[in-house]
Amino acid sequence: MAATEPSSPAIPRHLAIIMDGNGRWAERRHRPRIIGHRAGARAVNVCIDFCILKGIQALTLFAFSSENWGRPESEVGALMKLFMNALEREVDELDRRNVRIRFIGQRERFTPAIVARMASAELQTASNTGLQLSIAASYGGRWDITQAAHALAADVAAGQLRLEDIDEDAMANRMTLADVPAPDLFIRTGGEMRISNFLLWQMAYTELWFTEALWPELDAATLQRALDHYGSRERRFGLTGAQVAPIQESSE
Ligand code: IPE
Ligand code: IPE
Ligand code: MG
Repeated sequence: MAATEPSSPAIPRHLAIIMDGNGRWAERRHRPRIIGHRAGARAVNVCIDFCILKGIQALTLFAFSSENWGRPESEVGALMKLFMNALEREVDELDRRNVRIRFIGQRERFTPAIVARMASAELQTASNTGLQLSIAASYGGRWDITQAAHALAADVAAGQLRLEDIDEDAMANRMTLADVPAPDLFIRTGGEMRISNFLLWQMAYTELWFTEALWPELDAATLQRALDHYGSRERRFGLTGAQVAPIQESSE
């Protein structure tokens, strides 16, 4: 394993990725879609290696959306098997590499066996201080906002929060990933230019980058192109260019 490269301002703290295009990758090869999902699981490792090498602190991967439950039963079933196998196969190695794993999404929709695996992966890696890896599974941005609103309402009903104290911070603190900085850079493979119900709240000021490359084709060069794009952006957060330009130090 290569050492982490020195950090630079062009390195996002938090990278969020929609891993799209597995099905089309397989269909182009006249293979069943699940073959594409299997190849996609390998690309996840390419991505994790890259993040560790670059010193990226947090990586959030969209693995399965709230809406993906509506796919044909055979595809959902095959994806669940693949998910379970990946958990069994990868967690020890990720733990050894100091990666902290967590899952965000509507967990109760999974089988008890998968829920137990998720909980055990989270527990095993809870104190790891390296890459913070979040897997969004059975996740939807609307679900996330709704569960935060529910938590706020429950606190008000219990008398622990006053209505007038509900503000953006109160909401943000109840969203998933509240303890991780908002994504700096978003990547979507597979050519579609949409968010597909990913981190709707958290991506308010995220830089977006799209590639035609299908997820199983992902390589370090593609990820580097995304980072180069990120490094060339001026993030203004609503301010003017002059306000956010780095202060030029005088040489005298
Ligand atoms: C992304 O690939 C993986 C999941 C949504 C589970 P797709 O399965 O959406 O692949 P395409 O977009 O059909 O090619
Ligand atoms: C988004 O991809 C979800 C994941 C990659 C997990 P989809 O393939 O489900 O998105 P749409 O249907 O093209 O918007
Ligand atoms: Mg897709």
